[in-house]
Amino acid sequence: MDNMNKLFELNSKGIKVYNPDCLDKMKKSSAIVLNTLKEVESKIKAGLTTKEVDKICEDYIKSCGARPTCKGYQGYPAASCISVNEVVCHGVPSDRIIKDGDIVNVDVVAEIDGWHSDSSRTFMIGSVSDKRKKLVEVSKKAMEIGIQSVEIGKDLKEIGIAIEKYVLSQGSFKIVKEFCGHGIGMSMHEKPFIYHFDPKHKLGKIVPGMFFTVEPIIVNGEEDFKELKDGWTTVTKDGSDAAQFEHTIYVGYDGKVHILTDG
Ligand code: MF3
Ligand code: CO
Repeated sequence: MDNMNKLFELNSKGIKVYNPDCLDKMKKSSAIVLNTLKEVESKIKAGLTTKEVDKICEDYIKSCGARPTCKGYQGYPAASCISVNEVVCHGVPSDRIIKDGDIVNVDVVAEIDGWHSDSSRTFMIGSVSDKRKKLVEVSKKAMEIGIQSVEIGKDLKEIGIAIEKYVLSQGSFKIVKEFCGHGIGMSMHEKPFIYHFDPKHKLGKIVPGMFFTVEPIIVNGEEDFKELKDGWTTVTKDGSDAAQFEHTIYVGYDGKVHILTDG
């Protein structure tokens, strides 16, 4: 960055390249998101409804003086997205009771002082089948491999190439291609799209000052999905299970990749 007085500059692809001072601002919202997921981890169990888990998220985020970004976003009704088993993503919290053996993704975005961070994990409830365990393991590894592939100077498409290569090597798993990672910072969704498969074209060079998410959704059946009547919740058409992990990452001026929502 040439001009350190501005919070960001737009590069030739319209991607925000943030100045070095922005990292500390993002660290605050990232810590809140991480701690929200830790709070969920300590409390989630069979017998709770997904609405009750959402309340844990909302209460915790608010107790930090932050705001759950999702609530009210394009009319979204809750603080978190909670996606159980066959729910691919954007599960609207409801009276659905979490059962022993379920896999439950909790996706949280928090904003403080105008800066947003986004992370999700898939929790395994009680005794989970080997088939579901493997799905959760592959989806976590897929995210990690995507993050590990991030390197200054490489094209952003390399993330998707790395994820796709790994997932396809693991047997009959599929990537849900419709849902991408995204730039993040002063808004929840910014350029660029982060593809979780080979997009077959260049997306732009990775440079210091970028904040974005990596969040592949993996299924153990077919990737076709449909939206429920609530206008948000998406489920696999064949009823197979989906799992997802997500982190917000930062490409640092120190040359390193920082996983802001990890710890
Ligand atoms: N956390 C989701 C993402 O990764 C966004 C949720 S959509 C919302 O982009 F409507 F719930 F906000
Ligand atoms: Co996201």
